[in-house]
Amino acid sequence: MVMFLNGQAIAGLDEPFVFGDSLEIASHPLTVKDSLPYALVAGGSKGIGYAIAVALAKRNYNLILIARGYDSLLAAKTKLEALYPIHVEILSYDLAKEASAGEIAKWCISRNIRLKVLCNVAGLGGEKDYLTLPLDSLRYMVNLNVESCMAMSLLLLPLLEKNAPSYILNVASMAGFAPIPSKNMYSATKAAVLYFSYGLRYQLKEKKISVSCLAPGPVFTKPSIKATTKKRLGWFGMQMAVPPKKVGEKAVKKTLKKKMIIVPGTLSKISSSIIRFLPKRWVAGIYNGLGD
Ligand SMILES: NC(=O)c1ccc[n+]([C@@H]2O[C@H](COP(=O)([O-])OP(=O)(O)OC[C@H]3O[C@@H](n4cnc5c(N)ncnc54)[C@H](OP(=O)(O)O)[C@@H]3O)[C@@H](O)[C@H]2O)c1
Repeated sequence: MVMFLNGQAIAGLDEPFVFGDSLEIASHPLTVKDSLPYALVAGGSKGIGYAIAVALAKRNYNLILIARGYDSLLAAKTKLEALYPIHVEILSYDLAKEASAGEIAKWCISRNIRLKVLCNVAGLGGEKDYLTLPLDSLRYMVNLNVESCMAMSLLLLPLLEKNAPSYILNVASMAGFAPIPSKNMYSATKAAVLYFSYGLRYQLKEKKISVSCLAPGPVFTKPSIKATTKKRLGWFGMQMAVPPKKVGEKAVKKTLKKKMIIVPGTLSKISSSIIRFLPKRWVAGIYNGLGD
């Protein structure tokens, strides 16, 4: 299958497909929108990423949204541009692929994008992983959850530094605060995102780039998350859930205030404080007792 832009074939399905070329922007007379800073949301077409995009749009950031699916990217762009006076660029990439971060950074650097906010949101998890999923799926999860976050931050650093003060928001999870046997790889990758963010915050302090890490509890972005939460955590889990819109708003507000760890929702905040200070082997045992 081939994608078309203005009647011209631009890419086969396996190739990165870029929509919203910056030449389009240059051909318009300059408007207020053109002077706005940019925020890039990797995984910004749906769920928490889309909610983060909305919260940034509200604060007058132009956006670069990245995801695999073209239709949901286009739907997000159409909606956001109708609601807010901003430009939305959409790039279709699989962030789990090694080459993607480099190509995205090249796209941004060659256009001298005024990048002030980088949000690494895209991530993947399920009810069970290690000892259940094939090795290829586990590698895909590690590449998406950890490698893409690390590579995007590194390769977009020159633009963030140039446009400092600037911000990086990495999305981990409450699952990263302690080992969860049934979701072993998911909790391990999210722990890696948390540790990476803590360290990076100090490494980038002098460059005036603030690093924050969002660690939400359950967010019902799809029916399967609601069903699993109800099954494993019952009434308590349902009370812990925070709507995506609220998560996005809180994440952006606290990131711009340079907060390090962001846990939306009072119950999630209390639970995560307890989990973080209990010995890891205890919490692993408790999670194990909750069953698969
Ligand atoms: N929902 C929760 O309960 C919860 C709780 C804690 C943490 N989190 C974390 O929050 C983040 C977002 O979760 P969500 O529930 O909002 O997910 P979601 O609704 O599935 O949305 C994920 C977004 O990332 C994109 N994406 C997924 N895989 C991608 C890939 N390989 N390459 C490029 N883009 C990709 C998706 O678009 P395409 O599918 O079109 O690529 C979509 O825009 C994840 O890191 C997740 O681990 C979620």
